Amino acid sequence: MQEKIHQIVTRICRYDELPQEYQALIDEAKRQTEKSYAPYSNFHVGAGVLLADGTITGGNNQENAAYPSGLCAERVALFHANSQYPNVAVRAIAIAASTGGKFLQSPISPCGACRQVLLETENRFGQPIEVLLYGEKEILLIKKVADLLPFNFSDKQLFNKE
Ligand code: THU
Repeated sequence: MQEKIHQIVTRICRYDELPQEYQALIDEAKRQTEKSYAPYSNFHVGAGVLLADGTITGGNNQENAAYPSGLCAERVALFHANSQYPNVAVRAIAIAASTGGKFLQSPISPCGACRQVLLETENRFGQPIEVLLYGEKEILLIKKVADLLPFNFSDKQLFNKE
């Protein structure tokens, strides 16, 4: 039997160490939390999306009294970006969360379903999407979505490509 180790590299940094474009993306994710609709969890998540042409857009979580009908910030932001800019690749996404009027100290990372949607976008444009996870204490950077979802299911399996 063989063992294989899968590694992912994360970078930990402060806001002032980021390039201006990524600072603006984090700002957008934080701003997006203010427009989230989260009356049930009071957990306000914002996502900023940076497109290949420099456009920054975003979204936030949208909850529902019928809980499963709600949607996470990441998917709201990505579906918005992909529906409005269908021919422009996504370069990066930033995610921030607040509760009780305060941003979380540690970064939150996207749920499994959002990772799957992120992966589809990454594969769709054939370009890595950098993921920025914001926390007051530290910011985490992950070079590409595939790192967040090892052993994933994609069009490769569906169309028996590899
Ligand atoms: N949520 C997000 O929007 N993104 C995440 O990455 C984790 C969770 C939302 C879903 C729900 O509205 C609330 O946060 C609590 O789970």
